[in-house]
Amino acid sequence: MSSEEIVKFMRSMRSVRRFAPRPVPEDAIRGILEVGRWTGSAKNTQPWELLLVREPATLQALSKLGQFAEHLARAPMAVLLIMNSTANRFDSGRLAERLMLGGWAYGVGSCIASLFPEENEAQAKQLLRVPGDREMRTAISFGYPADVAALRASSDAGRRSVLPMGRKPLNDLVHLERYGEHII
Ligand SMILES: Cc1cc2nc3c(=O)[nH]c(=O)nc-3n(C[C@H](O)[C@H](O)[C@H](O)COP(=O)(O)O)c2cc1C
Repeated sequence: MSSEEIVKFMRSMRSVRRFAPRPVPEDAIRGILEVGRWTGSAKNTQPWELLLVREPATLQALSKLGQFAEHLARAPMAVLLIMNSTANRFDSGRLAERLMLGGWAYGVGSCIASLFPEENEAQAKQLLRVPGDREMRTAISFGYPADVAALRASSDAGRRSVLPMGRKPLNDLVHLERYGEHII
């Protein structure tokens, strides 16, 4: 793969919230978890564990534990990020992105589901028998996109997302040498 193709691949990953019913094969799951395992962390502390969920009843229960977590119920699998403490949020962001890009390398789409407020997180931990002192705010649903439209941020079956889709132009977010000096 050329550099241009890799950049195109990375840019192309969008959140997918509607999934085809077919399961994610074992080799893809292994690949996703391996990419996650090699994520860098502060002082290489690797302050995380991952929990893979495929049981539909569990996915259904988790989908009710976040305001925008309903896509978990439609996914063939989810990975929960179990962090050692609340001090590891930067690490968990990196981990999440790596797992998602790992999935995308297999054509597997994904979307973050934030488990909140705190009572919901506590309920999710109880459901999955995760020790109370860990942080578990993030679940990621994984599955093959249901159709082409699912790659364009449709939030729910047949319903378009209310979230804006595009991005700020590069010139609005990058400064050159001094704040306020733009690249173009
Ligand atoms: C920290 C974080 C939390 C998110 N939580 C949710 C969530 O609870 N439910 C959801 O459907 N999407 C969630 N998302 C996905 C964002 O809505 C999505 O990345 C954003 O709208 C940009 O769309 P795109 O990923 O398709 O480019 C989250 C993303 C991040 C980075």
